Amino acid sequence: MVIERTLAILKPDCVRKKLTGEVIARIEKAGFKILGLKKIRLTKETAGGFYAVHKGRPFYDGLVEFMSSGPCVPIALEKENAVTDFRTLIGATDPKDAAVGTIRKLYADNKGENIIHGSDSAENGRIEINFFFCTRELIETG
Ligand code: RTP
Ligand code: MG
Repeated sequence: MVIERTLAILKPDCVRKKLTGEVIARIEKAGFKILGLKKIRLTKETAGGFYAVHKGRPFYDGLVEFMSSGPCVPIALEKENAVTDFRTLIGATDPKDAAVGTIRKLYADNKGENIIHGSDSAENGRIEINFFFCTRELIETG
């Protein structure tokens, strides 16, 4: 299997609920290597740009509002099969549909406020990591 990179974002609800440490522990225990991690507050413009693929969808304005409502924690991750394995770890978009034991099932309130983001392809993983991190912020060793 190939080593892939994927971007996680601990969304503002995750930070507000003080679940940052708990969710990071689950990510590490699942075998993901943390290459980079930071806490930032997205502007509406930046949040809108990140989720531009959803522009025009009924949930877009709410999503932009939510993602800019407080600090979030983007995390650059690396692992064999990272994209699929990470989406398995976090569970379905709507926590009602998420498998038992997944991060969204455990911690998310609803489909909009669902604790965590995960890239949907290896290509988008690289693009999304570059959205938040420059090369010197991605540490391969350790
Ligand atoms: P994400 O990109 O955040 O990892 O989530 P995802 O792939 O599981 O879901 P996606 O379809 O890409 O949707 C992006 C985010 O938009 C919000 N959303 N709300 N209320 C709704 O019907 C709805 N649908 C999507 C969620 O925050 C979702 O994670
Ligand atoms: Mg998505």
